[in-house]
Amino acid sequence: MSKIKVLLIGDVVGSSGCQMFQKHIGTLKEKYQVDAIIVNGENSAADGRGITLKGMNFFKHNKVDIVTSGNHIWAKHEIYQYLNENRDLLRPANFPSECPGTGATVFTCGHFTVGVINLQGRTFMREQVSCPFKTVDTILTYLKSKTNIIIVDFHAEATAEKQAIGYYLDGKVSAVVGTHTHIQTADSRILKNGTAYITDLGMVGALNSMIGMKKAPIIQSMISQMPVRFSVETEGPMVMCGVVIEIDTDTGKALNIERVYLVDEEINILGNS
Ligand SMILES: [Fe+2]
Ligand SMILES: [Fe+2]
Repeated sequence: MSKIKVLLIGDVVGSSGCQMFQKHIGTLKEKYQVDAIIVNGENSAADGRGITLKGMNFFKHNKVDIVTSGNHIWAKHEIYQYLNENRDLLRPANFPSECPGTGATVFTCGHFTVGVINLQGRTFMREQVSCPFKTVDTILTYLKSKTNIIIVDFHAEATAEKQAIGYYLDGKVSAVVGTHTHIQTADSRILKNGTAYITDLGMVGALNSMIGMKKAPIIQSMISQMPVRFSVETEGPMVMCGVVIEIDTDTGKALNIERVYLVDEEINILGNS
């Protein structure tokens, strides 16, 4: 049986998240002997909002095959042209067609073609995106003619909506992984018809934070009900979360899913960068 291993990493938050990513990605690649790396980069800009051209270069330099994103993809205007001209950075496919970029792509992994789809949920999300179920059906009609190895990043808030997409796509794609909530869930498993699933991959960012951001102003905002500007927590320890998925290249079905949850006590950056 021929198989490939793919490492999927959750939202990388800010420059401290990028530092954590750079420090450990090589070791993880080696440890798990992965053939491809997919990362959600929607928070990788220094301030945690969006992704910059420098950020894309950073991920390419670190041998990432595809960068996915989510609601924060529009934060940095400089990335719009890149989205239009390249296929290694995805924005959710169910945004209006007027938006820059694309939400599905393929890349070559050894002898194999791997498809990647990025979708955004609608429950508790501000953006009025199209139905993710119908969007993914449309994408699969043409993507299936290219490959049966397909990975879906479903960027969504609600657990139930993430589970619904997971069950809906069970047997149709190799993996459905959730992003956006930044906290890794403990429900990784292979669904009944062979699709690997996890509700949320987690993030790469400060452990003692609120989804990568400094906690005190957010708590204060919850108490006072007054708005605050979030800022990236740069003080360690840092956490790096994701999964490694093993896929049968003949059937496209997942053989294994293993959670990655790495804490680094040594990275301890004081002050904003
Ligand atoms: Fe995020
Ligand atoms: Fe998000």
